[in-house]
This record gives sequence, structure tokens and C-alpha cells, in this order.
Amino acid sequence: MPQTITGQNDSLFDSKKFDSRKKDHILYSTSKESQFDSFKSASEQIQLLPTAFPEINLNQVKLNQILLGESFSSPHFISSMTGGHESGFKTNDVLASCAAEKNWLMGVGSQRKELADSSYAKEWTDIKKKYPKLKLMANIGLSQLIEVGSEQIERLIDSCQAIGVFVHSNPLQEAVQKEGTPNFEGGLKALEALCAKSSVPVVLKEVGFGITKRDLLRVNNFGLAAVDISGAGGTHWSKVEALRDSTKSFHYDLGMSFNRWGQTSAQILNDVSSEGLKLNFDLWASGGVRSGVDSCALLAAGAQAVGVASPLMKAALAGPENLLQLMKLYDEQLRVSMFNLGVCNVKSLKDKSLWKWKG
Ligand SMILES: Cc1cc2nc3c(=O)[nH]c(=O)nc-3n(C[C@H](O)[C@H](O)[C@H](O)COP(=O)(O)O)c2cc1C
Repeated sequence: MPQTITGQNDSLFDSKKFDSRKKDHILYSTSKESQFDSFKSASEQIQLLPTAFPEINLNQVKLNQILLGESFSSPHFISSMTGGHESGFKTNDVLASCAAEKNWLMGVGSQRKELADSSYAKEWTDIKKKYPKLKLMANIGLSQLIEVGSEQIERLIDSCQAIGVFVHSNPLQEAVQKEGTPNFEGGLKALEALCAKSSVPVVLKEVGFGITKRDLLRVNNFGLAAVDISGAGGTHWSKVEALRDSTKSFHYDLGMSFNRWGQTSAQILNDVSSEGLKLNFDLWASGGVRSGVDSCALLAAGAQAVGVASPLMKAALAGPENLLQLMKLYDEQLRVSMFNLGVCNVKSLKDKSLWKWKG
């Protein structure tokens, strides 16, 4: 008998609508029209300062990184995507197999559906059995966390044996989505409570509009392990919701009007660095990372890890070989960038003398 959560309003959760929405999300988020068209990339905003004298051999450059106490072969991770619907199973298997092979951290997509019906946990228990070395991050939206409270989240962590849990805050997307749940009242309190009770580290993330300096300070003493600032410049979730309006009327106009919304990850990292903010958690970056050169700029400016979503989804839809090839390219672009900066490891990359702000 599937377990149903208490407090979950059935009218808010309709499994068929959920599946159809998730399919739309994959379709539109991998299209050109759903991307920001007006923001500069991280490597344009943060100018890396290469050296003519690296004084190292390219084969000495290593990408190993420790995230949440676990060892990975790269600071790159697969940002949380999709999951919990029939057509997503195959794609999740491709993402999981490649993440396991490359030893990248992978975020699972929102586990909201598992809260309503625990039988959906099977997808992740099966994947963990198939790829025992794979390291996953659980995922839940802040608006669902507010509704169900922290105890329910342990089930989601268990089902994917997660090493950490992402809480995504997506107020703009929820507000413009036709079926959205734009209630964020009590979000800070719910997040703080989860940090106190969770059996694994908690990582806050946005979905591509950025978590600004002001908000980083508001959550500074919560006990978060990291914040993925997930800035603007890549997949634009208000545009994705707009594109779902096939009549191109009200919801299309509403979603499209936020074309220039948000801050880039590069801007936020530059704010933190230039103001010398003391943060009690690591910063991860994502949103619009379209090459390992972008990743290098973000790591130099203070990020600990760099996430990629839409390009990896697109590659995964074309099959595992395509995805592995793209992951290899991101890593190699980063390695070659590091070599040209004269830097052998990711830790030494975080250095103010290696970049300047261009804006
Ligand atoms: C198909 C797809 C589904 C996504 N689903 C989720 C989700 O369930 N939970 C979440 O936190 N973020 C989700 N995201 C957002 C990404 O994790 C990421 O924050 C955002 O897309 C910006 O990265 P990008 O520009 O590399 O796509 C999704 C992204 C894509 C492309």
C-alpha cells in the first residue's frame, strides 16, 4: 500500500498533471527559446589571467575534489533534474550510469511525487543497486518542505541513500507556473529546522535566478553545508513555464516578461569576494555553465563545485555515449584552463590573483 503523507493536499498533487508537466519541462528546458538571451557567461564576466610560464606539465593537473566529505574525480556535478515520472526513468538511468562511471556527484530531480506515493522511491533504490558507487543528492522544493516538515525528508534521503539533500527555492517559477505552489511563508524557519534535524548535509539551491548576497547572509547561521547560488544566464524557468502555454496568451506573456530577472553566479561570487563576506558554508555555482572554461572562472572566484543541467539533459536524451563525451569535454576544458593558469589542483584555483572582474 503506497504511503501517503499527511498534510499533502490532494488537490495540489495530481500525478497525471505532474507527469505531463515534467515532460514539458524536459522538452522546453532543452530548447534554445528557454535560455537566457541577454546575460554574459561566467568566463566573460570573470576574466581569467593566464600565464606564459605555467611551469607545470599538463599531466600534473588533477580535478579531484572533496564535496560533503566524499571524494569525486571532478568539481563538476550533474544538477538536479526531472525524475519521478515514467518517461524520466530511462533518462535518469543514463545520467546515473555516466555519473557513476565518471565519479561525478549527481542531484536527483524533485522527489515531490515520492512524498505523495512512497512506491516511487523504487526508481532510486533500483538505481543505487545497479550503480553502487554512484553518489546522489536528494531534492525537494522549499514550498513542499514548508508543507510537510523535515521528518518526511528522511524518507527521500533514504530512498537514494543520498550523501546530502538539495532544497530548491524557486519562487519565480512557482509564481508564473499555471499549476504552481507559490507559498513560501515560513521558508526560512523550515529550512533552519531541516538543517537541525537532517541526517545528511543540507544544500540550498536556486534554479537559475541566483541566491544573492543578502540571502546568503540571512541563512548564514542555519548550519547549511553549502549553497548552490545557481545564477542567471542558462535555463530560464520563467520562460520554460511561458513556453508551456500553447495559446501564447496570458501565461506566455507573464513568463516572458522576466527575461532579465536574476543575478549571475559570477556576479554573486564577485560580490562575496570583493566585500570579503565571511560565510559559514561552501558556495557551489551553476546556471548557464556552458563549458569547463566557465567552470574554471567560477572556481577561481570562489566556488567549490560547479553544476550543469540543461546541456547534460540534452546529451543524455541522445544516449550515454553523447553524455560521457560532453562530461569529458567539460573536464578537459577545465584542466586545460587550469594548466594555462599554472594551477595543478582545484584547491589552488581559488585565488584572487588568477582573475579580475570584467562585468
Ligand atoms: C529538465 C530539467 C529539470 C529540472 N528539475 C529540477 C528539479 O526537479 N529540482 C531542482 O532543484 N532543479 C531542477 N532543475 C534546475 C537545474 O538543477 C538548474 O538549477 C537550472 O536548470 C540551471 O542550470 P542550467 O542553466 O545548466 O540548466 C531542472 C533542470 C532541467 C534542465
